[in-house]
Parts: sequence; C-alpha cells; structure tokens
Amino acid sequence: MFKITTIPGDGIGQEVMKPTLEILETTNANFDFIPQEAGKECYKKYGTNLPQETINSCKESDSTLFGAVTSIPQQKSAIVTLRKELNLYINQRPIKSYTNPEINFTIIRENSEGLYSHMEEDNGEETIAIRKITHKASERICDYAFRYAEKIGKKTVTAAHKANVLPITDGVFKTAFYKIANQYPNIIPNDYYIDAMAMYLITKPSQFDVIVTTNLFGDILSDEGGGLLGSLGLIPSANIGNDNGLFEPVHGSAPDIAGKNKANPIAMILSSCLMLEFLNMEKEAQNIQNTIEEIIREGKIKTPDMGGTQNTQEMCDEIIKKL
Ligand code: NAI
Ligand code: MG
Repeated sequence: MFKITTIPGDGIGQEVMKPTLEILETTNANFDFIPQEAGKECYKKYGTNLPQETINSCKESDSTLFGAVTSIPQQKSAIVTLRKELNLYINQRPIKSYTNPEINFTIIRENSEGLYSHMEEDNGEETIAIRKITHKASERICDYAFRYAEKIGKKTVTAAHKANVLPITDGVFKTAFYKIANQYPNIIPNDYYIDAMAMYLITKPSQFDVIVTTNLFGDILSDEGGGLLGSLGLIPSANIGNDNGLFEPVHGSAPDIAGKNKANPIAMILSSCLMLEFLNMEKEAQNIQNTIEEIIREGKIKTPDMGGTQNTQEMCDEIIKKL
C-alpha cells in the first residue's frame, strides 16, 4: 500500500487531479490517497497557503501529487516552500513530442536555490532579490543530469547559464558542470548561454538530450518546451530528493480557463506516471504513457489547447477506455 498525499490546489489543479486519480485507480497498485489543501482558496479559509498539516502529510507519504496553485502576494510560494521542506533538489521535466521525433529532451532544473531562495527585500530605496548558487547544489544537480543521461542511454548533456554576465554565480555552475563531466567520459558535455539556448531549442531541438540549468532558467525553458509541443498541458514534472518525491504538471492554475472543463489533463496524468516510475511501477507507467501516445498520434480526441473540442472528462474517459 502506497500512501500518496494529493494536493489539487486551485483552478485547473482541481480539474486535472480528479481524472488522474481515476486513472491511477485502474492500475493494480494499491494506493491510499490523502487529500490535503494548499494555495489561494486554502489561504482564504485558514490564513495560510500551505498549512503545516499539508507539509507533514507530504513528509509522511511515499509521494505527493500536486495540481497547481494560484500565487498570492501576501504569501511565499506554496510549491517552492514544499520543495524546500521536502528537500526536493531535482526537478526533472521531459519534453517529448509524440508526433515530431526531433523533440525529445529532458530539462534537469536545480530546485533548491538560485533566484528561488526566498531572499527578497525592499529597503525603501532599492528592491533586491538574492540569487544564491553553491558549489554543492550545482555539483549535485549536474551529477544527477549525467547519471540520468547515462541511465536512459543519451549521449549529451548541455548546461545553460549566463556566466558572461554573472561570472561569479554562474561561473560556479559552469565549473561544477565541467568538473562533474570529467567523471562521465562516455557522455559529451556542452554549454550555451541561456539566451542562445532559448533560440536553439526552437531552431535545433534535436541536438538536445539532457539540459541542466539553474532554477529560474529551468523554469523558463520548461514553458518554452510547452511552446515547442504546442501546449503547456502536455508537460509533466518530477521533484525528487533523497527520500521523497512530488509530482506536478509544469503548468499553473490557468485562471483563464478554470472552471470550464477545458483543461488538458495529460500533463498531470503523465506526472502521475513519473510517480509510478519513482515507486518502481514502470510497467503501469509505461502502459498509461503508451495509451496517451496513441491518443495523441490518432489525433481524434483533443482538448482545446491541442486544437480540438473535447473536454477534460472526455480526454480522461478515452484514456480509461483504451487502458
Ligand atoms: P499557467 O501555466 O497557469 O497558464 C499559462 C497558459 O497556458 C494559459 O493560457 C493557460 O490557459 C494555458 N494552460 C496551462 N495549463 C493548461 C492545461 N492543462 N490545459 C490547457 N491549457 C493550459 O500560467 P499563468 O497563467 O502564468 O499563471 C496562473 C497562476 O498559476 C498564477 O497565479 C501563477 O503564479 C500560478 N502558477 C503556479 C504554478 C504551480 O502551482 N506549480 C506554476 C506556474 C504558475
Ligand atoms: Mg513555471
């Protein structure tokens, strides 16, 4: 029996969590789902966007499934705080097109520091955000990227940074990258400035296997990955630490389409597949992924972001029917 904390959150987070749990129920796995709250609606009820009870539940569970939350200026980001509380220092985001073989790479994003260190202040005259980059976290994430590339049989790992303008902080990241690269002689290391990388992702995506980068750059490149595939509603992610995992779609709460049954549930469902893999249920994960791949290739059932007219539930029903 796996204990899974589920945090649907706000907006379409709620709408994509429901079908995902329905699909997980069709597997042979034995899950105990523990629903918890976080986000803007939670803040309205309890005065906090991330209750201690939610954090404790995640810590006590085998994994967490997270939908999306709407940010509020009064509170620190719930998801960034959760990543920190659970020490989930790796953020893995596969960008794979099922219709264009040129696009198949994974972004490995440093998840614990950078500009997401919650160190921001207003001293009356200046507003300052601190971007913290350490040798330890940089080497740890680069090592994971090379190990991951080796594990899935990929040839290259590319680092993205801005060491020309940030020679100290991104200097540390770049140095860490090539230091770790030495330990993986079978993998070809390469690096680009983040701005050039943003262009190459569009002009020559096939050259990328695994991309490793700092926190904010990874966040931005992931949504660019969404653009490459045509929708953010297709991109899953895994937040991984030493003893825990949290799985969430790359997208947010999408207030523009919330409550309309229009959200694409695929990003959330594929995130649950990453959870199944994390829990050593590769076969179940593969089965669901193959089904989604078949539906995308067929192109008959498409939510509006994919250019179709089907709704969230119809996509879910099709997946369950095919499973
Ligand atoms: P967003 O990711 O929610 O939406 C961006 C665009 O993509 C919108 O046009 C939306 O309709 C579309 N989209 C996103 N997911 C989709 C799906 N599954 N199916 C179809 N279309 C989809 O980003 P936005 O609008 O910048 O932020 C909205 C709120 O979400 C903000 O409060 C933001 O802070 C929060 N957010 C939360 C995240 C999290 O909880 N991890 C991540 C990103 C944003
Ligand atoms: Mg993002």
